[in-house]
Amino acid sequence: MKILVLGSGAGGGFPQWNCNCANCAGQRSGRIRAGERTQSSIAVSADGQSWVLLNASPDIGEQIRRHPQLHPRCGPRDTPIKAVVLMDAQIDHVTGLLGLREGPCIELYATRCVFEDLTSGLPLLDVLQHYCGTRWHMLAVDGGRTCFEFEIEAAPGLRLTALAIPGKAPPYSPHRREQVVGDNIALRIEDLADGSSLFYSPGLAQVGEQELAWMSAADCVLVDGTFWQDDEMQRAGLGAKTAGDMGHLAQQGSAGRPGMLDALRDTGAARKVLIHINNSNPILDEDSAPRRVLDSLGIEVAHDGMEISL
Ligand code: MLT
Ligand code: MN
Ligand code: ZN
Repeated sequence: MKILVLGSGAGGGFPQWNCNCANCAGQRSGRIRAGERTQSSIAVSADGQSWVLLNASPDIGEQIRRHPQLHPRCGPRDTPIKAVVLMDAQIDHVTGLLGLREGPCIELYATRCVFEDLTSGLPLLDVLQHYCGTRWHMLAVDGGRTCFEFEIEAAPGLRLTALAIPGKAPPYSPHRREQVVGDNIALRIEDLADGSSLFYSPGLAQVGEQELAWMSAADCVLVDGTFWQDDEMQRAGLGAKTAGDMGHLAQQGSAGRPGMLDALRDTGAARKVLIHINNSNPILDEDSAPRRVLDSLGIEVAHDGMEISL
């Protein structure tokens, strides 16, 4: 299986256009060693020919331009991107769908809640009907099920499983205050030829027994690296919300509650990679103390352009 990290940043990317925090200002001036990051999306493929996008970031045009694997191959108009799977209905994960409007009808895989949000609060899919259109494939993780296994015909060789996980619906969703099953999913992706597997979850509010089991069963985990500390935004004067308020589990635990690092420590995966890094997170600075902590734990930080082969 081939994995391309198209965008390793959280909403806003890095540096964020209006942000003057130590990271963003430091990156602009060259005072810190930290790479720019576009907003959250990866692409996966079994054969390197047909690709599936996991989330569609507002930076999608630039992300495709940077990756020859995703360029058109033959005929006047062409794309190796065969489908898009959405993990939730957050702006940084879905607005790139508009950037695909010049192409063929989008084969779109999402849960019922996400289809609802994208036809009501943020009616992107209604708008797209006037362009390429979308064909809906329902990921049925609701109705008593928490897992839904599927394959994508046009991108053969992969078996995907959507897993309902704790998280948050977007601020514009009627479910923001009270999460509904299906607002957020993680994905397990297995290569049918060699059995290798990836666990992908850019937004994960809590790692319970179930999530830990899924993470431990994967060869590679690419998980929520949004915040180092739960109150990181407040401490830096950037906002009032905690990581928990936004549906993200911070790397460091707080008030006796384990953090993502504790979960990763208990995970058997060969590769452990943090992704969806917010611009406030000190791990963006390659020379920071938190970065050394990650190094000592064998945890990697995803960067734009990172390629993982399993
Ligand atoms: C989030 O995951 O909480 C988002 O990155 C927020 C956003 O898109 O602004
Ligand atoms: Mn996000
Ligand atoms: Zn910043």
